[in-house]
Amino acid sequence: MELQVSSGNLATWKGDGVVVNLFDGVTTLGGATGAVDQALNGLISKLVQKGDVKSKLGSITIIHTYDKLPADRVCVVGLGKAEEFTLDRARIVAAAGVKALRNSGAKNIATIIHGAGVGALDVENAAQANAEGILLGLWRFRKYHTTPDEVGALDSVTLLENDSAKLASVEAGVARGQVIANATNLAREMANEPGNVMTPTRMSEVARDIAQKCGLEFYVIDRAKAKELGMGAFFGVAQGSDEPPAMIVLRYWGAGKDAAPGLGLVGKAITFDSGGISIKPGEGMQDMKGDMAGGAATIAAMQAIAELKPKINVTGIIPATENLPSGKAYKPGDILKASNGKTIEIVNTDAEGRLVLADGLAYATQVLKLSPVVDAATLTGAMGIALGVHRTGMFSNDKPLTELLSKIGDETGERNWAMPMDAEYAEQIKSEWADIKNSGGRPAGSITAALFLKNFVGDTPWAHLDIASSVGTNSGGKENGYKNPWGNGTPTRTFVNLALALANK
Ligand code: BES
Ligand code: MN
Ligand code: ZN
Repeated sequence: MELQVSSGNLATWKGDGVVVNLFDGVTTLGGATGAVDQALNGLISKLVQKGDVKSKLGSITIIHTYDKLPADRVCVVGLGKAEEFTLDRARIVAAAGVKALRNSGAKNIATIIHGAGVGALDVENAAQANAEGILLGLWRFRKYHTTPDEVGALDSVTLLENDSAKLASVEAGVARGQVIANATNLAREMANEPGNVMTPTRMSEVARDIAQKCGLEFYVIDRAKAKELGMGAFFGVAQGSDEPPAMIVLRYWGAGKDAAPGLGLVGKAITFDSGGISIKPGEGMQDMKGDMAGGAATIAAMQAIAELKPKINVTGIIPATENLPSGKAYKPGDILKASNGKTIEIVNTDAEGRLVLADGLAYATQVLKLSPVVDAATLTGAMGIALGVHRTGMFSNDKPLTELLSKIGDETGERNWAMPMDAEYAEQIKSEWADIKNSGGRPAGSITAALFLKNFVGDTPWAHLDIASSVGTNSGGKENGYKNPWGNGTPTRTFVNLALALANK
């Protein structure tokens, strides 16, 4: 669905429903909420006074207009405290409002832009955040249900701006928000697709179609080529699967080929992780169809970057393969050699993500000379134990990059938390038989995984985002505003904003 932007007044807008809002402590309603209140002869003010309309963040009250307004329903969304309002809260409440009207059966609705008035946010940024919240919040994955469900779909959402002087800013913000939200929803869709559909080949087709549509350079390093390039770690994981593996490469040349190679984004894409010979327990194994969420976010971010056209070069690298047990599969005790020459003793075939990333990162840093490099991976179950679902674990060898990603995380709502990487932890991945081994055991499992990856980036400024919690941070099985309960698209928006931030440096 395309969002509409238009100038006008919610009180006279013709459609099924309109969304207005209420901050804590407000008794005299102003702006669009005030205009709607007046049209309703002060009904909203009265209900606020009586405590029937609540201002708590995300709270919803639906009022029928009884023909006092052209629209049938008014939805009042609580915004919480004005001084605590942020761009991310704008996403949350924008999603809450349109979802409530959709669930009430409305088809054509209009909303004000939350946060641009009393919330004191910059109009363009607020419009972007509202657009993102609406599109992310309305997204659902129902394509494999053959029976209809009770929740219908909206036909149109219009963002109404009263002040025509602000219209251009609103349009620019909404346009940017749509690009970013559509990319995030693409990442969600890929992660939600089952493993029999979203194979490495299918992922490379998605990437190829984006490349053709958006004018990106695209190529795939297949099984034979990976072997030729000495990508023994990636190749080793792919060995047990009949599905052809694909190291997918997407390149955006926004600064031109004479400029620095630019930003590298690397995303783990295990399209199904059974654990391999070190097979996982059956319970919950189905979630491992989402073990390609980092790769999906990388492909999706490349689409948004190509559409937003920042003046920077960006390359996405997506090592994609299944991890399955078979007569050809790699085994505990095997020793693999990565493309940077390092040897790896396999002690657990379920620690496969770091192996495919090893060759992805070496390719990014040594062959393509990308800098900085950021990877995203559903890497360790231990990450979910450490931080739960609300933050991504961030590991980095570079302070400015850490600080930038922290800031971007706060703004996007894809929050990161800087984790330690003290050298002492690396003792755990020393091997008797090779340079390193692929698991350091259970203690500090996310940290030893990050230290493993450090062997493949050299001196390049690098950050690793462990998004394993519930297959994509911010999910956690619960619907929360614009966040999706499973496969949330994290860190698509972080990647896009990182490219934009580095281009503006
Ligand atoms: N893909 C998993 C990590 C994971 C677990 C992601 C749960 C999302 C939810 C990864 O490949 C894995 O199996 N990691 C092992 C590492 C261990 C064998 C050292 C783990 O976390 O148990
Ligand atoms: Mn695994
Ligand atoms: Zn995995």
